[in-house]
Amino acid sequence: MAYAPHLPVETERLRLRSFTRGDVDAVFDYRRREDVARYLFDGPMSHESVAEALQARVGHDTLDGDGSKIFLAVEHKATHQLIGEVSLILRDAANRQGEIGYIFHPDHHGHGFATEAARALLEMGFAGAGLHRIYARCAAANTDSWKVMERLGMRREAHFREHIFVRGAWDEEFVYAVLESEWRAGAGR
Ligand SMILES: CC(C)(COP(=O)(O)OP(=O)(O)OC[C@H]1O[C@@H](n2cnc3c(N)ncnc32)[C@H](O)[C@@H]1OP(=O)(O)O)[C@@H](O)C(=O)NCCC(=O)NCCS
Repeated sequence: MAYAPHLPVETERLRLRSFTRGDVDAVFDYRRREDVARYLFDGPMSHESVAEALQARVGHDTLDGDGSKIFLAVEHKATHQLIGEVSLILRDAANRQGEIGYIFHPDHHGHGFATEAARALLEMGFAGAGLHRIYARCAAANTDSWKVMERLGMRREAHFREHIFVRGAWDEEFVYAVLESEWRAGAGR
């Protein structure tokens, strides 16, 4: 299978588009922050590492094999401001399993933007890429993140206790998922 969304994808308030080199400062503005990195595996990022990461994302706009990724910048339509990023990863092509992720600038938390963008990702994954199941993972303490998953109609499938030792402490992980049939039946809407 190969799937590339027709970009940009527009939702009510957002535009999901490919990253460009011109996005480095806007992405650095949130990826440098300790509060944003708190529950991410990468710590706060330097300007240079953000530039390298964005360079590596150029061309990541197709799902065409295990581990292939679509990384999208999320722009607020009304202001054209880049407010966050989302990802859709093909984890297992044979079994049509995908994973979503999201990171938003704290100035734009609390408006439902992450949920709105992630909903568009689920639609891409199911209707576009023909996925059967899409999951998301987060630190159990990352309440804001798993609340997004619950708003999306995803079910908590697992709570992995102390599954990895990260930054000096054992991590607890939640796994949430939604099936294509559940999505079609209206989960999360
Ligand atoms: C995870 C993260 C994206 C969640 O952001 P968020 O702003 O809480 O999520 P949403 O954009 O969906 O907004 C939901 C909030 O907006 C409120 N809201 C306001 N208008 C809304 C609308 N139109 N639709 C939905 N929710 C709305 C909701 O009530 C909710 O607030 P609450 O949590 O107080 O109930 C954010 O915390 C983040 O970027 N964290 C740092 C990176 C990170 O940890 N990423 C996840 C890694 S697993």
